Amino acid sequence: MSEVAEPEETTGAGQTGLPILEVADLGLTYPNGREVLNGVSFQVFAEETFVILGGSGCGKSTLLNILIGVLQPSCGRVRVTGQDIHRLHPAELKSIHLQCGMLFQSGALIESLSLLENVGLPLRQHYRRVAGDVLEETARLKLRMVGLEDHADKRPSGISGGMKKRAALARALALDPLLVFADEPTSGLDPVSTQEIDDLFIRLTRRIGAAAVVVTHDIASFFRIANRAILLGGERDGEYRGRVIMQGSRDDFRASSHPAVQRFLNTSLGAHPLS
Ligand SMILES: Nc1ncnc2c1ncn2[C@@H]1O[C@H](COP(=O)(O)OP(=O)(O)OP(=O)(O)O)[C@@H](O)[C@H]1O
Ligand SMILES: [Mg+2]
Repeated sequence: MSEVAEPEETTGAGQTGLPILEVADLGLTYPNGREVLNGVSFQVFAEETFVILGGSGCGKSTLLNILIGVLQPSCGRVRVTGQDIHRLHPAELKSIHLQCGMLFQSGALIESLSLLENVGLPLRQHYRRVAGDVLEETARLKLRMVGLEDHADKRPSGISGGMKKRAALARALALDPLLVFADEPTSGLDPVSTQEIDDLFIRLTRRIGAAAVVVTHDIASFFRIANRAILLGGERDGEYRGRVIMQGSRDDFRASSHPAVQRFLNTSLGAHPLS
């Protein structure tokens, strides 16, 4: 899987034309008064991999939940292909969701279903009039795409952590989405498995031409997969808490002398020095 080319620096894959995802001046205060996000803005363009970085508890999952329409922001807006997703009727939001693949932190595979059935779930939900054997064949193709064709009949509990991530990726990509959201897609994996999943993720999202929004605090992953990224401020970042500390390419992050960026990179890097 090492044939994956480095993502393009600076320009992303296609920062031309209209953004697929537009986030403008987003704020979120939970009902208990906890202000988590404040004035968050960014745009994601076709076929680019956009990474959301930040320490534990800074609001990355909260932001992702707002982006997929599960959580209502306190202020600001989110547009997917030009449509404000928090102002849509449920049926309209559903049609947006059909264009979005989602890969949750836990993998969220259903234990009572085989891997083949898990991957086939979005296909069956969407293509209700298509014959079952055609959908099964499509699900099998998706499993082959992630190298799990020989494990189609296994249950999630019978496979390794890395295999679960691959199955969850196959399910997220089942409908060939325009945009993929992933919350910590490599959490809990060792560095070798992390690299394998990163490479697979980039290879497959490129193959189907999807843009991706990936939450991670793994700096090695960030330097492997990102075209551009934002760093969200957390508790230790004072006035930047809940705000975007920095937005830019991997080179911009490497070159930054911003103390909060330096602190994040240096404390997260460990064995992965900037080079
Ligand atoms: N429903 C809620 N009500 C109140 N506070 C919440 C709620 N959900 C999350 N929080 C708080 O909001 C902050 C951000 O949480 P969030 O899960 O978005 O962080 P995160 O960046 O994803 O963290 P991690 O890296 O640990 O996954 C945390 O302080 C969390 O305790
Ligand atoms: Mg989280």
